Amino acid sequence: MAVIKVDIAGAPYEVRVGAGLLAELVPQCRGLLRKRAVPIVTDVNVHAAWGSVIEASLRDNGHEPHWRILPAGEQTKSWAELSATIDWLLELEVERGDHVIALGGGVIGDLTGLCAALLKRGCKFIQVPTTLLAQVDSSVGGKTAINTAAGKNLVGAFHQPSLVLADLSALETLPMRELLAGYAEVVKYGLIDDADFFAWCEANAGAMLAGDAALREYAVAHSVASKARIVAEDERETTGKRALLNLGHTFGHALEAETGFSNRLLHGEAVALGMVLAARFSARSGLMPKVSAERVASHIAAVGLRAEIATLGLECDGAALVKHMLHDKKMDAGTLPFLLMKAIGETYLDKTVSLDAVAAFLDDELARPAN
Ligand code: GLY
Repeated sequence: MAVIKVDIAGAPYEVRVGAGLLAELVPQCRGLLRKRAVPIVTDVNVHAAWGSVIEASLRDNGHEPHWRILPAGEQTKSWAELSATIDWLLELEVERGDHVIALGGGVIGDLTGLCAALLKRGCKFIQVPTTLLAQVDSSVGGKTAINTAAGKNLVGAFHQPSLVLADLSALETLPMRELLAGYAEVVKYGLIDDADFFAWCEANAGAMLAGDAALREYAVAHSVASKARIVAEDERETTGKRALLNLGHTFGHALEAETGFSNRLLHGEAVALGMVLAARFSARSGLMPKVSAERVASHIAAVGLRAEIATLGLECDGAALVKHMLHDKKMDAGTLPFLLMKAIGETYLDKTVSLDAVAAFLDDELARPAN
């Protein structure tokens, strides 16, 4: 098992990465579950796959699980589920010092984390992420949120968990499409500031995605360590350091919006495309060699992720995609900061990007012949 410390001032915690952690839930949480009753928020799919394992660990150790089993999918991150889940926690008489367990992917982690941030002005919670995306990104760093009619993640809070348990066994039951979508966030850490890790990804992604246990542990633990380093430096995204974690997200968000935040394009798939676009736009702007941008695109395509927006069959132009970007929550006094690259492993925040130039670039990408 790998243990990574997230050194947030005043609220440090561990992320433990290894196989079999769900079966060992109670020993792993020693000292945190102080009452017999343990509230667990999850979704129907995760409950079907892992509910009995968690149930056994809790009951064998004298606890009584209280399940809140929500529909799977992004629509669960809503005001309605937030309010109903908080009412449920109040009925269970959860106190500030008690822990709620978030068992699932990013949707469950974000919703449960926000409930924990609000309940009695803040109770504690444990993240038990079951998707690759949640293990390497959303469960670490304390961002919690729901979606509203105006957009995704527009209502939320920073609220750090007390512990993150990333069980690699959970990845074994994950559909390949979801595993690949999560892998986009792994590659991201290489592109941000770790060229050696990008090279590791190029060399090892195939075997890692195919199931090699040691490579999976390394990929998840290394990603978590990168994220831990960044959020410890800039917990609330105020200095620009944490903003680097949004690489590919502005382009990706526009694509998600254009495809209706639907199954047509998963978040991680949009991030993968967004990183290719960020790399190509950087090359077109003369910031990095074209060959480096194509190296990014080649790796994304090599693992089986979509690397060309022309293959999405969108019926829109670049200006329409840019319009979606204007609703991005990163808008800052009328300008939209972009994460661009000077090299693989050298991402920076650029506040001077012309949206007309982005629209023209996207027109060309939409027309680029798919190989
Ligand atoms: N997923 C980006 C962040 O946690 O800041």
